[in-house]
Amino acid sequence: MPTLPTLEFRPVDLPSSGTLVVFAADGMALGEAARRVEEASDGLLAAAAEAQGYKGKRLATMTVPLPRGLDASALVVVGLGDLTKLTEADWVKVGGTIAGALPSGPNRDVTVFAETPSGPLTTEQSLDVALGLLLRSYEFNAYKTKKGDDPEPAPRKVTMGLPNAGDIEARWEAVRSIAEGTMLARDLVNEPANVLGPVEFAERAAKLADLGVEITVLEPDELERLEMRALLGVAQGSERPARVVVMEWKGSQSGAKPVALVGKGVVFDTGGVSIKPAGGMEDMKGDMAGAAAVVGTMHALASRGAKANVVGIIGLVENMPDGKAQRPGDIVRSKSGQTIEIINTDAEGRLVLADLLTYVQEAHGPNVVIDLATLTGAIIVALGHHHAGMYTDDDTVAAQLTDAGRATGDLVWRMPLGKDYDTLIDSKVADMKNTGGRFAGSITAAQFLKRFAKDALWVHIDLAGTAMAAPANEVSRTFGSGWGVRLLDRFVADYHEDGAADVPRGPAA
Ligand code: BES
Ligand code: MN
Ligand code: ZN
Repeated sequence: MPTLPTLEFRPVDLPSSGTLVVFAADGMALGEAARRVEEASDGLLAAAAEAQGYKGKRLATMTVPLPRGLDASALVVVGLGDLTKLTEADWVKVGGTIAGALPSGPNRDVTVFAETPSGPLTTEQSLDVALGLLLRSYEFNAYKTKKGDDPEPAPRKVTMGLPNAGDIEARWEAVRSIAEGTMLARDLVNEPANVLGPVEFAERAAKLADLGVEITVLEPDELERLEMRALLGVAQGSERPARVVVMEWKGSQSGAKPVALVGKGVVFDTGGVSIKPAGGMEDMKGDMAGAAAVVGTMHALASRGAKANVVGIIGLVENMPDGKAQRPGDIVRSKSGQTIEIINTDAEGRLVLADLLTYVQEAHGPNVVIDLATLTGAIIVALGHHHAGMYTDDDTVAAQLTDAGRATGDLVWRMPLGKDYDTLIDSKVADMKNTGGRFAGSITAAQFLKRFAKDALWVHIDLAGTAMAAPANEVSRTFGSGWGVRLLDRFVADYHEDGAADVPRGPAA
């Protein structure tokens, strides 16, 4: 992983070197410490703002190099806009914006005056800013050959200036765990498929054992024995054998039934015999972003010692067309016993998830099951890159995930399920077929999964538009966004940790 900044939280004075960051609200309103900058610099901030037409609008930045009267190498102003309207997700974006505005020079010290015109940032706000700063600093350049002799720049040292830092360091540890989990998910999505096949992905997931996660890796013999024929059918056209990894985190004292997280891990999706067009196919190295989100979440939960029971399960396969590959027209028997007519070998993710959904219910008796998958191009047509599609029959869990999404910025939008969509996947020769025709492609994919979720309290999240190849934003700049880790971590924290608010237990009525 590239060199990430270190962060500390403590009272600060005007720094004697490096970059100084201050916030400005609408109309260039400044906080108390920023006014000290104005005194020392003879009104530099106001003058620079005037000259550049800078007004402190939300996330607008202004950089002043070698600010007069100060010892800093640069002064960076980050706009907060209307202070009354800043949400948690906005503060994270503020942090990302800071990291994006920092000059790349040799002095790596950064001091942030963590204050607004109404006073110092709260602990929560400071942590949100620090989280955004860290997430934005992530890079993926493992495969870029370094040119020239310049040494790698040292990591930045960021000091968040707070008059009373209190016990924030301990809480920062937990937030940093969540950032690490997000960046782990990004790494997995960013890695090319020649490097990260099913076996290698399983090995990376198995490293969670170091954090106290119990790991079980299932190999093809075992998967055969477990009758996961739908999953194995997808893998059979690849030279590289399938893996299923089960990750158990038992952090609750209460003996609660686990939250189950189920991830689609297609390390590369050529489409199989129903092969995809060449243009853009390289992006299908990211077709394991659901599995990456599950691994990243398990990392975050274990690393911060979440008091919850969570089981993660990921199905790792490669969808390739070769002499042994599955064909359109084939009929496979899933672990559940239901038979599936393969219409299109490119609708493979649902086949992988089908068997995992059956397995996780039989083996782990979960309280709630959430599957995550880059399942359909259709969800990108419907929602673009700014919301993932969420499917569930349960209004309570839908509201909980919607709230967790709004808080963290990993947004979900609820999509419909219903009998009329379900009948679109009826088959003439088997219990169902694996595609539902031209329309409502993301919904018919969800209906397919629902037939395997049976009576469980179940949620399907289609993150094809948000977790891979999403546009760059304040906190995410690479192909893999790490989408879902913060959402799921928050969902667990708010509704499933010991002491969390009461949640409805068991299957939906
Ligand atoms: N992995 C794809 C979905 C996808 C598309 C993810 C674009 C990310 C970006 C999935 O396996 C797939 O190929 N789905 C097909 C289903 C169709 C054959 C019914 C699709 O969406 O076209
Ligand atoms: Mn596909
Ligand atoms: Zn796929």
